[in-house]
Amino acid sequence: MKIIIKDNYQQLSKLAASIIADLVREKPNCVLGFATGATPIGTYHELARLHKEEGLDFSKVTSFNLDEYLGITMDLKLPYELDQSYARFMYEELFKRINIKPENTHVPFGLAQNPEEFCIEYEKMIKDAGGIDLQVLGIGGDGHWAFNEPGSSFDSRTRVEYLTQKTVDDNYEAFYKKAGVSKEDMPRKALTMGIATILESRRALMLVSGSSKADIIAKALEGPVTTDVTASAIQIYKGDATVILDKAAASKLKNF
Ligand code: PGA
Repeated sequence: MKIIIKDNYQQLSKLAASIIADLVREKPNCVLGFATGATPIGTYHELARLHKEEGLDFSKVTSFNLDEYLGITMDLKLPYELDQSYARFMYEELFKRINIKPENTHVPFGLAQNPEEFCIEYEKMIKDAGGIDLQVLGIGGDGHWAFNEPGSSFDSRTRVEYLTQKTVDDNYEAFYKKAGVSKEDMPRKALTMGIATILESRRALMLVSGSSKADIIAKALEGPVTTDVTASAIQIYKGDATVILDKAAASKLKNF
């Protein structure tokens, strides 16, 4: 595992985007795994800049997102701040800014009639695409990887997961509050790739920013490998893993 510490969020984002861009140039038909949340936004905007100013070509790229809230999906008739789906997030922050083909992008479908069946199908779609070449990841305040909340097995596959109160609270502060949604009305369930699904990707690019993540990322990287902190699975990742932190997020690491 490679751990890189950058001075600030902007530099973290630039480096993450350049790693993704190098892969897209090397393998134009690569399969990218995307994450949502506040952390990757700078990376996605930098990829959009590389597309616009340097012609970075996403026309042959396929993508799979880690997760989506159960019960909602993108509704372009709503203003962005009222549409909290991760499909909308990806559209606004990345997909509409680059030339990826909409039919090549995949976000778990939050309105699937039969979510369990959908999850099996999602796993099959990833396999049929040849697997994920590079998976972008973050870490939740409770240590989650995608929406694999504490206690999720390292054998877990794409499935329906109940969100912890910590996750609901964090997402409320980061996104829902602005939209005027009350906590009671927030989604409590999600569709998420499992830990085993993530561990099968060929490369992992984990992004961690801000002092609020300092304690939990220290546990994930330097503490025991445990389902209490599902992101600690990065320590058993067999592919090529890179973790990029800004200084604030890295402040509690002992070995740096
Ligand atoms: P964040 O979310 O980027 O908004 O902090 C990360 C996560 O929950 O995995």
